[in-house]
Amino acid sequence: MAGRLAFAAIPERYRTLVMADFDTRWYGNDQKDADAVKAVARGYLGNYYTLDGRGLYLYSNTKGNGKTRLACIIANELVKMGIIVKFATAGDILEEIKRSWDSNTEYGLMSDLKTAEVLVIDDFGTVSAKGWINEKFYQIINARYVSKRPTIFTSNCDLATLERMQYDQRITSRIKESCFMVMFPGSSLRDKKNAQNQMDMKGWLGVGR
Ligand SMILES: Nc1ncnc2c1ncn2[C@@H]1O[C@H](COP(=O)(O)OP(=O)(O)O)[C@@H](O)[C@H]1O
Ligand SMILES: [Mg+2]
Repeated sequence: MAGRLAFAAIPERYRTLVMADFDTRWYGNDQKDADAVKAVARGYLGNYYTLDGRGLYLYSNTKGNGKTRLACIIANELVKMGIIVKFATAGDILEEIKRSWDSNTEYGLMSDLKTAEVLVIDDFGTVSAKGWINEKFYQIINARYVSKRPTIFTSNCDLATLERMQYDQRITSRIKESCFMVMFPGSSLRDKKNAQNQMDMKGWLGVGR
């Protein structure tokens, strides 16, 4: 378990969260939509072994509404089930690939990304896909697709937007075929949380209220 957790490299902030920490009351007026999203996540975990390598594509056109949080919760629950999970942001993947060119270690890195039992790619679609970026993402996503290894994406783009950002149709069609598309409710929780944080801090400072 400890080894699997270390390999997963889930960000500190989200490492200990479990499904109960996805509190849909946070979504206010959108709570019903958030409940539906949570039901998908529960269903995914409950049926993981019969889903035959299918993944999830968690998306919304706003930031800060819990996509990374839920992806990490799912990852944590999968680790508890004994599954080897790897978490990486799309940006980290590209940076690491670039760095590996100097040391001739790209093969090992790509191999980890292709063969981890479950791969979480956070913030997919933050950079436009030019030449080699398209090629590397295609290699990772296609290798996982043909070997029926699930990939869980979070993104601020739907698939049409990805294509407008020059993501190859070979990538978007693989995602379409192998992932459940999960649209997140629109409200930005980070804004709400920041507002709450500011209120709390004012309290600690003994000002306002
Ligand atoms: N259901 C929730 N309950 C409590 N806090 C939440 C919930 N969903 C998200 N948050 C908080 O809101 C902020 C933004 O969430 P995050 O998952 O980073 O958003 P996204 O990946 O969609 O941009 C984080 O601080 C996160 O912990
Ligand atoms: Mg995020």
